[in-house]
Amino acid sequence: MKDYKNILTETEGATGIITINRPKQLNALNKETIAELHEAFDRFNKDEKIRTIIVTGSGEKAFVAGADIKEFMNFDTAQGRELAAKGQELLFDFVENLDTPVIAAINGFALGGGLELALASHIRIASDNAKMGLPEVSLGVIPGYGGTQRLAQIIGKGRAMDMILTATMIDAETALNYGLVSEVVPQAKLMEAVIDKARQLQKNSPKAQSFAIKAVNAAYTKTGFETEKDLFGQAFSTEDFKEGTTAFVERRKPGFSGK
Ligand code: CAA
Repeated sequence: MKDYKNILTETEGATGIITINRPKQLNALNKETIAELHEAFDRFNKDEKIRTIIVTGSGEKAFVAGADIKEFMNFDTAQGRELAAKGQELLFDFVENLDTPVIAAINGFALGGGLELALASHIRIASDNAKMGLPEVSLGVIPGYGGTQRLAQIIGKGRAMDMILTATMIDAETALNYGLVSEVVPQAKLMEAVIDKARQLQKNSPKAQSFAIKAVNAAYTKTGFETEKDLFGQAFSTEDFKEGTTAFVERRKPGFSGK
């Protein structure tokens, strides 16, 4: 197995397991982690022995707490748009369109880019302590890794609007009720449950599964994703974005001016 700096990879039978491994930053996605994830997903997808891919976070606290706020807080509009476009290309759109089914094992906080990675995966299973949300508007920005599109596709526009505009987190039971995850299990049983699901998937035709993924994805237009990238970039030129990200780093509540 190749050595990465921010992720771990291993195999269990025909399943490739990718663990995002920045526990001190709650597995936040910086550019380097996204590039490593791209490479690992690509490698498992091309390996004919691998029939299912699991993605999870290291530690017991977080799946992924979002894009790395400290990395992007001084970006301008062009850099913000580029961050969203590159991230979507390398990871979120990439995962959604893989031939090999991807299961997100949501083992704790899945926020912002973390929930967006789970939304791009084909199946989501959560541990009972998981918390999910898109808190971006509390930072003065919007979800930029496909969240405005995929959350509405999966749980419906009304609930997605509520979650995005209130920037609140939902617990695992609510996520199950919303159809955001297909199963909730005790944290200690999460990996067992996702491996079981992987084995269940492996009974079926890989070729047909890859066609099915393409067919299901074909229903969704790409226009909304472009709008999301543009508006994500625009948010970086606002006073609210500077205030929201600075307040996060300074561990205080933001005072938004609306400018
Ligand atoms: N980016 C960078 N660092 C992060 C992070 C993130 N998204 N989330 C957590 N961290 C860091 C914290 O800054 C902290 O670092 P230090 O120890 O160096 O101060 C460390 O991880 C542990 O976090 P906390 O001390 O905050 O842990 P907590 O238990 O008090 O709170 C939490 C946990 C509620 C998840 C809180 O960390 C949090 O709110 N994180 C940010 C969540 C968020 O806003 N995510 C969206 C990011 S924007 C995005 O994703 C944009 C996009 O769509 C492209």
